[in-house]
Amino acid sequence: MSEKATLELNGQKYDFPLKSGTENETAIDISSLRNSTKGIITLDSGFKNTGSCESAITFLDGEKGILRYRGYSIEELAEKADFLEVAYLLIFGELPTQEQNLKFHNDIKAQSVVDEDVKKILDAFPKTAHPMGVLSSLTSALTAFNPSSVNVNSEEDMYKAIVKIMGKFPVLVAWTLRKKNGLPLDYGEKNIGYVENVLKMMFKQPNEDYVQNKVLIEALDKLLILHADHEQNCSTSTVRIVGSSHAGLFASLSAGISALWGPLHGGANQAVLEMLEAIKADDGDTKKYMAKAKDKNDPFRLMGFGHRVYKNFDPRARIIKKAADEVLEDLGIEDPILDIAKGLEQEALKDPYFVDRKLYPNVDFYSGIIYRAMGIPTDMFTVMFALGRLPGWIAQWREMRLNNEPIGRPRQLYVGATERSFVEVDKR
Ligand code: ACO
Repeated sequence: MSEKATLELNGQKYDFPLKSGTENETAIDISSLRNSTKGIITLDSGFKNTGSCESAITFLDGEKGILRYRGYSIEELAEKADFLEVAYLLIFGELPTQEQNLKFHNDIKAQSVVDEDVKKILDAFPKTAHPMGVLSSLTSALTAFNPSSVNVNSEEDMYKAIVKIMGKFPVLVAWTLRKKNGLPLDYGEKNIGYVENVLKMMFKQPNEDYVQNKVLIEALDKLLILHADHEQNCSTSTVRIVGSSHAGLFASLSAGISALWGPLHGGANQAVLEMLEAIKADDGDTKKYMAKAKDKNDPFRLMGFGHRVYKNFDPRARIIKKAADEVLEDLGIEDPILDIAKGLEQEALKDPYFVDRKLYPNVDFYSGIIYRAMGIPTDMFTVMFALGRLPGWIAQWREMRLNNEPIGRPRQLYVGATERSFVEVDKR
């Protein structure tokens, strides 16, 4: 392949170098475009063709349905690793040794207490507040309780900030649920695993011991791993762009949580369940909803279907579908919602509208079914996604700062009014 791309504009030629990634992907480096052409920019709404950075964290090939963290396949990690190992891998680049793993977990545990005054902030929210709004606010509030900024050139400082947020974030997640359920706030237990502690903090009743369920621990561990990173998606790009102004880690994460909230991104898992409930209430009429999804005059979309980069089966959806079956079987739950989901999937996979547009079920099509079986309320699903995505956001923020990336500041094509004179109010 040639080593440059040539742009011809008004009879003049401009050359731009090509860059190759380690998976042989190619990018045209247009960083000199505006200078050399004296002001011309590219226009790429939604960044469908624009690489915002070079990253060594996650590789995905949407056409082939491949997802790898730091070179390891998602299938292998979901089967063999636990969430904290994956978090370490994403953030620091290599799987931890036993010693590193233990230290990482202990350091996280040492940071798993949140200032008591955070409870006052939580108290001010109504019980009906959406948990994502609460989580984003509490994460932002952590900056006030931990004001020292991270010296990104100090590995020790960076590590301290990372274990701090890895320790405190699950407490905020659990408290968000407990507040919603009217339960006293709890710190869980120091001597159990990270995921076990999350479950205990969320569900322990004040007047009885919490009994762990191995199937639930494994399913949640898997879900968190599957959600841990997904390269430059909306919330991750948000974390990177906020952090590129040298805003702190917690503030950048709080912005990422807000981005994740939307139904076209992380909020889809809530939207999927709401859609399946609506279909169930409508006599399980999947055909009607398939028709609505295909009708261009109807804004309805089949939630949990389609993906910006996967134009093939989302590899995470395959793993999660199997886990959903296992959890429901183990808990002895027969959920008509699952039957509706399976029916919809079968119809969509053979419908020319979905086939032609390469719309396959994504990870969120099945994750809500597992969360529901675990007893997690629908509006908490995206909070669980955020808990899983935390190490990915941290890894991306860290990489961005260590690479000394410039502040993110896109250009625009102005299409508004040209210069005009002000008209006094009485003459308008
Ligand atoms: N139902 C019906 N039609 C759909 C759907 C859907 N779920 N998704 C895409 N389409 C159609 C579009 O109408 C469009 O049709 P057209 O070419 O005839 O105009 C075509 O497929 C391409 O869709 P785009 O919106 O251009 O694709 P884009 O890459 O911008 O959007 C997205 C991807 C936002 C995920 C979209 O598929 C969608 O809205 N899906 C439902 C929401 C969802 O499940 N989001 C979760 C994503 S995964 C995650 O964030 C973890």
